[in-house]
Amino acid sequence: MIEVKDLQKSYGELLAVKGVSFTARKGSVFGLLGPNGAGKSTVISCICGLLKPTAGTVTVNGFDIVGEAKKAKRSLGVVPQELAIYEDFSARDNLAYWGAAYGLKGRELKSRVAYVLERIGLQDRAGELPKNYSGGLKRRLNFGCGLVHEPEILLLDEPTVGVDPQSRERLFNLVKEERDKGTCVLYTTHYMEEAENLCDELAIIDHGKIIAAGTLKDLRAQVGESDIIQLSGTFDPIAVEAAILGLAIDSEILVLSAGTLVLAIEEAAAQLPAVLQAVSSTEAEIRETRLSEPNLESLFLKLTGSELRA
Ligand SMILES: Nc1ncnc2c1ncn2[C@@H]1O[C@H](COP(=O)(O)OP(=O)(O)OP(=O)(O)O)[C@@H](O)[C@H]1O
Ligand SMILES: [Mg+2]
Repeated sequence: MIEVKDLQKSYGELLAVKGVSFTARKGSVFGLLGPNGAGKSTVISCICGLLKPTAGTVTVNGFDIVGEAKKAKRSLGVVPQELAIYEDFSARDNLAYWGAAYGLKGRELKSRVAYVLERIGLQDRAGELPKNYSGGLKRRLNFGCGLVHEPEILLLDEPTVGVDPQSRERLFNLVKEERDKGTCVLYTTHYMEEAENLCDELAIIDHGKIIAAGTLKDLRAQVGESDIIQLSGTFDPIAVEAAILGLAIDSEILVLSAGTLVLAIEEAAAQLPAVLQAVSSTEAEIRETRLSEPNLESLFLKLTGSELRA
């Protein structure tokens, strides 16, 4: 449904997207997971035709987004990272505006607007102006505006930023509902838990490049069995490295700086006392210890040496 091939996009001198390829399918959620500045929004803008690729191609529902823009755009619904709502129109009018922009009218438009208002939980406040809404409610309306014309393909650019857990859950359910109806959903986020929860397939993007891709299972296999031990404090990296290497355990140092030590290690809970003792023996000050099972965060750490949320 969406095919992105060797996509590149530069802003002047800056090559923000450096040859990205992936395919997002019907009835599934494809996740684009990456930190701030990775290039997620740029990819989305190229897919919806807002930006012209510097090189490479984007095909939407079989149509080239540059050569056959009109046909390609017909099947798209977009929920942009920056709110795309009119603060001085009521929520109902915002939805009606976007529905009409995609050719809905009359009874059909009215019933879609009512349906979406109910789904995003704004039916009781539909007559109010969004400028009086909280940030979370604006996000919900922004989401609804992308859905109102029942697009076959939905592009969601960090739709849950700034929403409370309850609204987030509601948005997740909407995404799942869309997927189950057969919609192709492209979902960008920098929250690995969202990606783990929602996405059938994923690409991890960093500095404009895909550094890992596949199903969650494929990606987990890349992390291996190792757990993660993360220590924060004040360290002498050379001494700490020597102390860790001196331990007769199978571990890999993923990050080691004056403030952070991250280790990939099997059976981390059992090994933790020895690790703490070894690090303490270097006169390090340990302020925080975190243990985690292998997950996308640890894969990101392993591949890039930095934290996803840094
Ligand atoms: N209009 C622009 N002009 C110049 N540089 C830009 C522009 N838009 C984005 N960039 C740069 O391109 C890179 C990718 O930005 P992009 O917005 O695509 O990242 P992102 O993954 O969506 O990040 P975020 O999670 O912060 O939304 C960044 O280095 C950004 O500063
Ligand atoms: Mg973005």
